[in-house]
Amino acid sequence: MTSLWSDFLTNTQRSVFKWKHYFPAYERHFGRFVNTDVVFFEIGCGNGGSLQMWKRFLGPHARIVGVDIRAECGKFAEDQIEIRIGDQSDQAFLRALCAEFGAPDVVLDDGSHMMSHVHATFATLYPLMPRNGVYMVEDLHTAYWEEFEGGLKRKESFVETCKDLIDALNAEHARGAIEPDAFTLSTLSMHFYDSMVVFERGRHTKKFAMRIGAID
Ligand SMILES: C[S@@+](CC[C@H](N)C(=O)[O-])C[C@H]1O[C@@H](n2cnc3c(N)ncnc32)[C@H](O)[C@@H]1O
Repeated sequence: MTSLWSDFLTNTQRSVFKWKHYFPAYERHFGRFVNTDVVFFEIGCGNGGSLQMWKRFLGPHARIVGVDIRAECGKFAEDQIEIRIGDQSDQAFLRALCAEFGAPDVVLDDGSHMMSHVHATFATLYPLMPRNGVYMVEDLHTAYWEEFEGGLKRKESFVETCKDLIDALNAEHARGAIEPDAFTLSTLSMHFYDSMVVFERGRHTKKFAMRIGAID
């Protein structure tokens, strides 16, 4: 199978804007959706090239939904690629997308990168996603930049929210200091990369696994 990276290097279709080190993370977290009927939302269409890249990568059954605030992105629609125009911070708009296409198996937030928008999109879509969904936010270096409502240790930063979510992920071990919540019960793992965070949904098994041997 062609790797996503070599696909990117040999792309002759629309232009794609991705950082190099994202590609192994894409393959790692999105690879299991290849050749499935995945519903893939990408927030932020740019020049439309990433939508085509996901289509090539994910195969003939994938349904790619590109979301952008710019009406001209409508021209990126083609077989397997749908475009919807709206603001990623508009929660009613996002819920309407889920009603139309079904809750997404994958969300890739590559939109405005404004902290309030990243928060609003995550707060709306993440709880609606299926049990095995993957939610990725990229270009999260903006969480450290004031012009994107970020800044080191600022409460508005999505990175700061992620730090709290690590505690939520582990809430069952916090001896009552925090209560397990819907995030605790529906999140299997969180992954951090330079400028990127990934949430993999999945049910926790709360009990220790013990291998029963023949001799005690
Ligand atoms: C970094 S570009 C996306 C690049 C594209 N995903 C790629 O990899 O080639 C960001 C996009 O987000 C869109 N955008 C900006 N603010 C938005 C908002 N509030 N809601 C939805 N899309 C937004 C911009 O119009 C732009 O197309």
